[in-house]
Amino acid sequence: MSSDEIRKRFLEYFEKRGHIIVPSSSLIPDDPSVLLTTAGMQQFKPYYGELDPMTTVHPSIGRPVGENVASVQRCFRTSDIDEVGDESHLTFFEMLGNFSFGGYFKKEAIRYGYDFVVNEMKLPIEYVTIFDPARVPGGDWRKEGVPFDQESYDIWKNEIGLSEEKIKREGVDNFWGPTGNEGPCGPTTELYVRSVDGKDIEVWNIVFNEFYCDKNRKLMRLKTPGVDTGMGLERLAMVVQKVPTIFETDLFVPLMAFIPEAMPTDRKLIFADHARGSAFLISDGVRPSNKEAGYILRRLLRRIIVHMYLEQNPGFDFRKLFETVVRNYKDFYPELDHETTVSVFEEENRKFRKTIANGLRELKKMPLVDGKSAFRLYETFGIPYEIIKELSDDKGKNLRREDFDKEFKRHQEISRAGQERKFGGHGLLLDTGELKAGNEEELKKVTRLHTATHLLHQALRDVLGNSVRQMGSDITVERTRFDYTLDRKMTPEEIKKVEAIVDEKVSAGLPVSFKELPLREAEKTGALHFFKAKYPSLVKVYYIGDSIEKAYSKEFCGGPHVNNTAEIGRVKILKDEASSAGVRRIRAAVD
Ligand code: ALA
Repeated sequence: MSSDEIRKRFLEYFEKRGHIIVPSSSLIPDDPSVLLTTAGMQQFKPYYGELDPMTTVHPSIGRPVGENVASVQRCFRTSDIDEVGDESHLTFFEMLGNFSFGGYFKKEAIRYGYDFVVNEMKLPIEYVTIFDPARVPGGDWRKEGVPFDQESYDIWKNEIGLSEEKIKREGVDNFWGPTGNEGPCGPTTELYVRSVDGKDIEVWNIVFNEFYCDKNRKLMRLKTPGVDTGMGLERLAMVVQKVPTIFETDLFVPLMAFIPEAMPTDRKLIFADHARGSAFLISDGVRPSNKEAGYILRRLLRRIIVHMYLEQNPGFDFRKLFETVVRNYKDFYPELDHETTVSVFEEENRKFRKTIANGLRELKKMPLVDGKSAFRLYETFGIPYEIIKELSDDKGKNLRREDFDKEFKRHQEISRAGQERKFGGHGLLLDTGELKAGNEEELKKVTRLHTATHLLHQALRDVLGNSVRQMGSDITVERTRFDYTLDRKMTPEEIKKVEAIVDEKVSAGLPVSFKELPLREAEKTGALHFFKAKYPSLVKVYYIGDSIEKAYSKEFCGGPHVNNTAEIGRVKILKDEASSAGVRRIRAAVD
């Protein structure tokens, strides 16, 4: 069965069962808290509790969608972007989904899922999974208050008639959402089928949106629970078409046929995935830039360009590859635009090749190329290791992949520190509530501002006395905003003094480190913290100075911070104003 046929059969199946078919929305969602559309439910998010699906006119169909809908949605996920090149990871994919906003719930959703997979796609179910909080590792905020999904268990067992061994209890993967900072979420049940080479493949994720998760990670029961399902077309096509990888499905074969066989497999897969992803992003209006979706597109395009560069004589014209993507998809996605895709690609190609040339000039100036300098070239110019190694010749004699990787890892750890605190998964690179960053560059900037904020806090106490306490802070790429207790305005002299102290600490190049300590011990260090806040039993104390005892500043904090205050640069206080009674608000920036 072709993938065109699968899409058609899916939509017809649900149309026949009273669902309104809604076209795919753009990869750029309306929801400002997420960068890209990562799931079919994205365009329907407000219907779970916020907007009435019976009366709200849906922009793409010009009338209300009603309670039950189905769609084939183009999606883009960045979480696997670095894994692309192996046989299972993709950035762009299509998601088949049926949704209900108070129309039906677990029983019907499970029946539809089972019936479609088994009777329409002719795939026997290997097993299913259901949510069990006992399988969630300790400390996961979502565990609290979400019970074992007995209802789904009973439906699978008693109504569908699956044997008990085929109903697996799982934790982490069986809770979905919210996308972005807040939204509907809930337990899921997943359907697994066997691939032609014997792997168990998750084909369908059925989410029961029973909760609404607010910005503070508080789960509340939704008044009208809903259904949100997602089945990846590529994976489904792989099992239906009985091929061992997604790249052998009819969604990829025409593209793969185009790329010379002799090319290394990972490179071929990168070309195929990134060509699809960038054609769709560009057609949805994204342009390469250093921010947000533009940054993601730039990464895809540059990776293509780099691999073309490395290939030297790739043996095919990239315009043709885009043409094949467009031809494959145009019937279903008429918005695909070949001409624009090619011209955006070519422009980036021109620019990036210039960047590579600039990087090479920089490289020529270097007496030696080691892991650190190679990583700097990579970071500043985006030139990958292989090119640096190849072009540095003698100077890079001692350059080892491990040294470069070590630098890379160090850098990654910083961003991972951010990722872990990121909430909701699909939008910002870093969102601690206090710090927000959409890409690596922004992450660097907010990290500098974050350490600057710690210095500022201590400097305020130095100048105004120890009754000064932090009441809140918020850091964006442009500035840090810091609220502190003081019942009067600072004088201009005081502001100058605070700035001078911060300046001195930056110039001193003090190391910034942290220690993870049991709460009691952390308190004993005298580190600043919110008195009323609840802290976990183990906390991180970030300190600025040679040791925790002699530190200039110490605070309970999750990071991330710079390694040395010298990285911060000049800190300037922009504004000091009243925030509320007894609380002042200061804004500061770094150059
Ligand atoms: N929204 C669910 C997912 O993306 C179905 O897996």
